[in-house]
Amino acid sequence: MPSTVLIGAQWGDEGKGKVTDLIAREYDYVVRYQGGNNAGHTVIHGDKKLALHLMPSGVMYEHAVPVIGNGVVVDPGVLIKEMAMLEAEGISCKNLKISCDAHVIMPYHKDFDGADEKRLGENKIGTTKRGIGPCYQDKVARKGIRIQDLLDEKIFRLKLEAVLSQKNPILEKIYGLHTYTVEEICEEYLPYARILKPYMAETAQLLNEAVRAGKSILFEGAQGTLLDIDHGTYPYVTSSSCCAGGAATGTGVGPTVIDRVLGIQKAYVTRVGEGPFPTEQRFPEDGGEGEEAEVGELLCKVGHEFGVTTGRKRRCGWFDAVIARYAAEVNGLTDVALTKLDVLSAFDTIKVCTAYECEGKVYDYFPMQQSVLFHAKPVYEELPGWKGVDITECRTFEELPENAQRYVEYLEKITGVPVSIIAVGPDRDQTIMRGWDR
Ligand code: GDP
Ligand code: IMO
Ligand code: MG
Repeated sequence: MPSTVLIGAQWGDEGKGKVTDLIAREYDYVVRYQGGNNAGHTVIHGDKKLALHLMPSGVMYEHAVPVIGNGVVVDPGVLIKEMAMLEAEGISCKNLKISCDAHVIMPYHKDFDGADEKRLGENKIGTTKRGIGPCYQDKVARKGIRIQDLLDEKIFRLKLEAVLSQKNPILEKIYGLHTYTVEEICEEYLPYARILKPYMAETAQLLNEAVRAGKSILFEGAQGTLLDIDHGTYPYVTSSSCCAGGAATGTGVGPTVIDRVLGIQKAYVTRVGEGPFPTEQRFPEDGGEGEEAEVGELLCKVGHEFGVTTGRKRRCGWFDAVIARYAAEVNGLTDVALTKLDVLSAFDTIKVCTAYECEGKVYDYFPMQQSVLFHAKPVYEELPGWKGVDITECRTFEELPENAQRYVEYLEKITGVPVSIIAVGPDRDQTIMRGWDR
């Protein structure tokens, strides 16, 4: 299998964990390249649902080497707990490699994340409060602490001293929070360093050697296209490059290594946190009434749309072809995996947004100004559903009800990308392969 980037094509939670777990068997390496434990990727293991936050979802296969690339931000305490959880489930983490260049999430990053959100009040982003933004801020400001700094206590202490002399006054005077001493952070982080040391590696070199040896890599994106720091609905985004381009900078492997880009799309759309969402079907508590509220509640209930990381209720809405086309372009999608098609079995008719209308103008492309996205009225095409037909046992395209087939073909036509995988349930085998293994 050639090397592939797998990305979220919407606002995250599209089912990247399920699809990574499904296709990882074909790859020699499975690599996370951005984000941190803001991600929550679900994989089913026997009768259990496992939530992976930092570990690449390919860890479920012993032959596939899981790699945490340089573009990821690592909370070492969280990673160690996740490894222990996996080991307790009988899943070995012994092959894990962690880039020495990855940045480390420090306690003050989490403090700043929470405090910034509080200060923003109504204008908050709705972050996961895992310290992601503040850690990437320090990386870009060249004040970050990297995994390799944990290897040398003297260097770690020196860097901490410098960084705390800047952070402590801000924590105390601006945010009214407690400050840190070098000693207390060392007490927590140096034992982490001892545990993680055997897994630390020069991962760019490792992956490039693997490519030369003819091995294949699956780059597992976290979050999604519309949460990308450059291409997303800024500032309601995360702080990393979630799009396919991030796979190269986040691992040190050149873009020419990538042969395919698989976009994961839900058959509808969800979003956690704040920010524009044109096709949202608001819940009653958010001001939705009548049919809108009914659709929102039904999608949430049938799709079990609750965050894996924070437990928050996910906002739900109809499929948005404008963002699907945009995601196809900014990622260079070669294939789409359409997930949760089974959830739409709950509806008589299904709506698809084909364009936006704003102040008398119709947009069938992603608008240049975000204010349009906030005020956009979706233009819908209505398609007949397959209400009440259980499709979770379908394993070929032809077994799907006619209207479900038409729905998939319609999405292919309006977004211009072949749907080569269809998921009809959370389990690995609840899947229709439709050309991915070509
Ligand atoms: P990720 O962050 O993109 O990996 O997605 P999450 O794991 O956060 O959310 C996707 C949820 O949908 C998880 O609970 C999955 O088990 C579940 N899921 C994935 N694919 C399907 C599907 O085709 N049908 C149904 N019903 N659930 C699915
Ligand atoms: P996976 O990989 C959905 C959202 C947060 C918030 C914004 C910024 O499971 O798809 P952050 O903590 O990153 O600074 O929060 O991004 N967000 C996600 N939403 N899925 C995710 O990951 C997300 N990771 C971050 O809700 O709106
Ligand atoms: Mg998720």
